[in-house]
Amino acid sequence: MPALPRFTVPSLSKEKGGKVAAILQERLHALNDLHLTLKHVHWNVVGPHFIAVHEMLDPQVDAVRLMVDTIAERIATLGVPPVGTPGALVKARTWDDYSLGRASAIEHLGALDEVYEGVITAHRKAADDTESLDTVTNDLLVGHLHELEQFHWFIRAHLENSGGSLSTEGAKTELDAASEAKKGA
Ligand SMILES: [Fe+2]
Repeated sequence: MPALPRFTVPSLSKEKGGKVAAILQERLHALNDLHLTLKHVHWNVVGPHFIAVHEMLDPQVDAVRLMVDTIAERIATLGVPPVGTPGALVKARTWDDYSLGRASAIEHLGALDEVYEGVITAHRKAADDTESLDTVTNDLLVGHLHELEQFHWFIRAHLENSGGSLSTEGAKTELDAASEAKKGA
């Protein structure tokens, strides 16, 4: 367990402040990983629809970097030092590095569907877990989810057919999702 903060926000106990900061630290790592992954895709997407995907991703990178900043500053506000170094991120993360290098737009979109699925599921859990602990942090995370879920839809709209089904339905890994997306294209 990390040491208790010496101070935290008014009306929260130090224990609760430390607990909320620990939840936020996981989200800080996840979203730092996400904006780096989105840039990696921006650089590695090839083939037809290159420019659409290349250009769609930069506003997502910028928005996620802003989310990272609000999370880190909320951790500091709670009296805990935020950790933003790459080594700490890799040590703490519970997921693998993004699986694709140079690949077609549809394959990266399939893989990104999986990436957003994981990030949003964990972000929603963090929002649920902070609901009774700290409504301000809960509000921050819910605000991020408005954008993250819209970005996920931007990705999924490329994978959806006119009947409303996703080509990546049932895929469990980024590589599976990439291959299903390619088949469904
Ligand atoms: Fe660029």
